[in-house]
Amino acid sequence: PDGSGLRRFEELLASESRVEPTDWMPAAYRKTLIRQISQHAHSEIIGMQPEGNWITRAPSLKRKAILMAKVQDEAGHGLYLYSAAQTLGIDREEMFDQLITGRAKYSSIFNYTTPTWADMGSIGWLVDGAAICNQVPLCRASYGPYGRAMVRICKEESFHQRQGFEILLALMNGTEEQRAMAQESVNRWYAPALMMFGPPDEDSPNSKQSMAWNIKRFSNDELRQRFVDMLVPQAEILGITLPDPAIRWNDERGHYDFGELDWNEFYEVLAGRGPANTVRVSRRRTAHENGAWVREAARAYADKQAGASGA
Ligand code: ACO
Repeated sequence: PDGSGLRRFEELLASESRVEPTDWMPAAYRKTLIRQISQHAHSEIIGMQPEGNWITRAPSLKRKAILMAKVQDEAGHGLYLYSAAQTLGIDREEMFDQLITGRAKYSSIFNYTTPTWADMGSIGWLVDGAAICNQVPLCRASYGPYGRAMVRICKEESFHQRQGFEILLALMNGTEEQRAMAQESVNRWYAPALMMFGPPDEDSPNSKQSMAWNIKRFSNDELRQRFVDMLVPQAEILGITLPDPAIRWNDERGHYDFGELDWNEFYEVLAGRGPANTVRVSRRRTAHENGAWVREAARAYADKQAGASGA
């Protein structure tokens, strides 16, 4: 009531310090963090599906082992992030419920399908590449538990990106058919990966406030530009053509120009009408329901242990 909490919160932001769960924080700051962190956690968990889909069909034992480890990493990322969100006062059951009832957002990108093995390469190179661009600055997010989770996640994410690049490189060094498969896959994933950064700045209702709170450090368009600048030389090494004829170095700006994205498609996916929205959410719901006995058993065991130590 005396305003000292707010003053201290503002001092923490001004001095680039972290806000911790026990610090006073504005209700809207808490709310936006819960929104972003839970959406991010859901993305990791839903993001296991498009790749999990290929574990049994990976072309070698080595590829299978790598893919399994990667999908497992994503489960881990989801769990760090749910834990970070819980420190803000929301419980995990509530977040799960929002996800399996289709009320929660998660990244648009995971509503696209993975019909070919090359898609494992594209997801690593493009999707995890975009994730790193977006998440490295989040390591400096003002909320401590989120920023710290990001540090660990980014380390694993950069390994994921390299393994995707390496899958595409192997295909591009292969037969004509394999090269065509890689190119066809990149053609499908390129634009949706650019949309992962969110709507253009002028249509991004949350950016300004999130940047003022040191949650986001760069705008959606700034990060998208950084991503395109990173991709162009990598595509050259791969010998893959990015499916945008407007990509061209702009000497004046010191960046690559690139074409308009189809934002109608983005909003359709957000509205639940992407190629795989329904199957993603229903698989998650089934998995959650099938796991009920594990949660019950774990709870019964924890209760028994608590009872034993109290005796
Ligand atoms: N997919 C789904 N929803 C999106 C996407 C996207 N690619 N981009 C933006 N949105 C949603 C926002 O969540 C917001 O919805 P809400 O207000 O109902 O919550 C709305 O569109 C408007 O967008 P913004 O105002 O730009 O939202 P915000 O400031 O939160 O920026 C961003 C969006 C960049 C995704 C931000 O939330 C972020 O950095 N999140 C953390 C990273 C993340 O979630 N990554 C997940 C994919 S990476 C991975 O899991 C491997």
